[in-house]
Amino acid sequence: MNPRLFAISGLIEGAFFILPEQEITIGSDPANLLVLDDPAIASFHCIIQGQDGEFHLRRSGAGGALAVNGLSADERALVHGDEIRIGGTLFLYLAYEAETPADFRLQREIERLELENRRLQAAAHVDHDMVGDSPAIRAVCQFIAQVAPTDSTVLICGESGTGKELVARAIHRNSRRAGKPFVAINCAAITETLLESEMFGHEKGSFTGAVAQKRGKLEAADGGTVFLDEIGEMVPALQAKLLRVLQEHEFERVGGTCTVCSDLRIIAATNRDLADEARRSAFRQDLYYRLNVVRVTMPPLRDRRADIPLLAQYFVRKFARRSSRPVAGLSPEARDRLMGYDWPGNVRELENSIERAIVLGSTEFILPEDLPETLFEEADSRPGAPLAPFHEAVNEAKKQAILRAFDQAGGSYTECARRLGLHPNYLHRLIRNLDVKDALKARAG
Ligand SMILES: Nc1ncnc2c1ncn2[C@@H]1O[C@H](COP(=O)(O)OP(=O)(O)OP(=O)(O)O)[C@@H](O)[C@H]1O
Ligand SMILES: [Mg+2]
Repeated sequence: MNPRLFAISGLIEGAFFILPEQEITIGSDPANLLVLDDPAIASFHCIIQGQDGEFHLRRSGAGGALAVNGLSADERALVHGDEIRIGGTLFLYLAYEAETPADFRLQREIERLELENRRLQAAAHVDHDMVGDSPAIRAVCQFIAQVAPTDSTVLICGESGTGKELVARAIHRNSRRAGKPFVAINCAAITETLLESEMFGHEKGSFTGAVAQKRGKLEAADGGTVFLDEIGEMVPALQAKLLRVLQEHEFERVGGTCTVCSDLRIIAATNRDLADEARRSAFRQDLYYRLNVVRVTMPPLRDRRADIPLLAQYFVRKFARRSSRPVAGLSPEARDRLMGYDWPGNVRELENSIERAIVLGSTEFILPEDLPETLFEEADSRPGAPLAPFHEAVNEAKKQAILRAFDQAGGSYTECARRLGLHPNYLHRLIRNLDVKDALKARAG
């Protein structure tokens, strides 16, 4: 291999020099190995030193100014494609013997166009809010691009906090239904009647409290997409009604006889192993087959750690903006902790951790002490690991707070969420994760 220096502009444009493995001095003085008759350069301007196939450029003593790829440089190891400005001459350093500047430029242009093409194609295909560059997330984007234009029912599986709802919204946004509503229904609602009326609507007087006719969410979503979150929690009676919606695209309001038709696309999500539940008859098999037309499983965060810094930086920007605190990023120690943790709560847990760090921290960079303590209790963080007494006590306190608010709210689930100052969806999640559903049911009578 014989690296070369091509003069690509200036007085000696077109000339090239094969670089020997020795010291090459460059300057206007005739004693230099490479003499440039240029009043703009020093007598002994710079040196290129070759050793073991590597070439280093440096100013010679007080020598003249150097710029590599447009940036001033005093010393630098040259890499293939570097452009070196010495006075009025611009040199191109090519490390591979066979290449000419024209080949090199063509190759660079092809690479640039290919990259731009790939970016444009990806951007043109899917519009989504998902941050991540891991192969697993790219595969999910590819999936969204493929299924969005179809009307197929989609089942999104994956652990809590992996972004299932984000994917459902992206599918809707990239579909022909984008201009119509996206309606989310949480199937983990406490009572069957509440969920039934929320989904299908009701006729006036169909049950105590039904003072007027009400359209359900399936009706409100006409022409759009219905997202059935936590489908695995749906009670069997409603599973049967939903099956009919999927098969015949029609249903009746609670207490009604007139049939309502709705043009819907169904996307369902679950963090359970629905295939196994269907096998064990814990979930209707026929409904499972109807839902499982195309399926995607969201990868847990611990299986795509490369996305952690990207996501963390994204959340830092988001919450710093929201709290008007100028936080630039993560300290190396905080970043290491984020990379080393198992993230049983996935992206949601990471998002919450960063939000907390921005609220509690006081420095320009997030420090390890700004992060939640759970991130430092490695043994407790693995899913299924027994809970430490401290966490057990915290969970018990959460359970009691929910039960108390539920009683005070007279069994109204929405009121219960309001009293606790929680978003209803978050209350659903807590109820599921803390396993208090049966206790609430017993209280609701
Ligand atoms: N790839 C991602 N990029 C940016 N934000 C993300 C990503 N994945 C998830 N999030 C954020 O993490 C949070 C949890 O995501 P989402 O609600 O979609 O998860 P989920 O799988 O539906 O969780 P659950 O089963 O607990 O409902 C949301 O605030 C979401 O915006
Ligand atoms: Mg969700």
